Amino acid sequence: MYNSKITGLGYFVPENVVTNDDLSKIMDTNDDWIQERTGIQERRHVKRQGGETTTSMGVKAAKIAIERSGIDKDDIDFIVFATLSPDYYFPGPGVLVQRDLGIKTVGALDVRNQCSGFVYGVSVADQYIKSGMYKNVLVIGSEVHSKGMDFTTRGRSVSVIFGDGAGAAVLSREENKNKGILSTHLHSEGQHAEELALLAPGMGGRWVNDIVSDNDPNDESYLPVMNGQFVFKNAVVRFSEVIMEGLAKNSLKPTDIDLLVPHQANLRISQFIQKKFGLSDDQVFNNIMKYGNTTAASIPIALTEAWESGKVKEGDLVVLAAFGSGFTWGSVIIRW
Ligand code: UT7
Repeated sequence: MYNSKITGLGYFVPENVVTNDDLSKIMDTNDDWIQERTGIQERRHVKRQGGETTTSMGVKAAKIAIERSGIDKDDIDFIVFATLSPDYYFPGPGVLVQRDLGIKTVGALDVRNQCSGFVYGVSVADQYIKSGMYKNVLVIGSEVHSKGMDFTTRGRSVSVIFGDGAGAAVLSREENKNKGILSTHLHSEGQHAEELALLAPGMGGRWVNDIVSDNDPNDESYLPVMNGQFVFKNAVVRFSEVIMEGLAKNSLKPTDIDLLVPHQANLRISQFIQKKFGLSDDQVFNNIMKYGNTTAASIPIALTEAWESGKVKEGDLVVLAAFGSGFTWGSVIIRW
């Protein structure tokens, strides 16, 4: 019936910049290690007291995306919010966005697919628009990681990597079937769920009350765990597969890609994919150097920056790809 296309993009990051040297003052790490292993130079952290929340940053990014799309907030038919760091355990931030933006009582869906969250969200929005059910869908990815990580040496292999921020996109109906989102491709492999996870609350029946009443200062249930090397090895394989799957579905080749916007997990992963597909520096967008890994927010922040700097032009073939906790992974093939 229809295609969907991205008609507006926006992002918001907190103003507080945390450099690698800042982190080396509070834990045993250093700028060389972080840059060499990840490419990250700095990231943003919200203020610890009274600062931005996952929802408030998502709302700010969404306002920009809506304005750029040229629609009114009352034209939004559905909200999709992807995050692993919601303001509340429930309800999710989707309804908070509906409230804070003063949008009509449209549906609000929360997506829990971590680093693949935005790609999953775009896929949901695309299907609603393709089926004719909705005309305009707001998709947001936002994260506050800094309040949930361990900034002692114990947590260094995780806490130096992740940063806070939000990005948003408005997807709208496109009558031309050769334009906009051509296809989306989603996967999961729950066998590796615990390789990158935060186990509480839940942990096999041990809920918040138990954790609080145990009052154990060494309790690590609320800290994210990541088997970095295992995640890395799976990421490079799955990124490659899912990009190829999307290209093949549309009878395209890697050389047809004008811009690849990968989830910003690690600059080394992006460089591996770039080399594997024979892409030039201009064909792959990276901004992990400035923001670290912002999980569900990383693709919409990167796509917005790419668009703002003129790297996304009418007619371009733009590919989004993500991999992360779950494991989940996915790609989006777009004719801009
Ligand atoms: O977006 C979700 C998906 N996530 C990812 O894609 C992450 C994928 N994985 C990675 O990016 C990498 O595995 C990391 C960047 C997380 C880690 O790099 P690595 O090369 O795999 O390092 P490692 O975990 O094997 O650690 C090497 C050494 C260890 O010391 P020993 O045992 O060799 O003495 C660590 O204790 O580096 C040490 N280390 C650190 N040193 C300084 C770990 N974290 C740090 C740190 N600063 N922050």
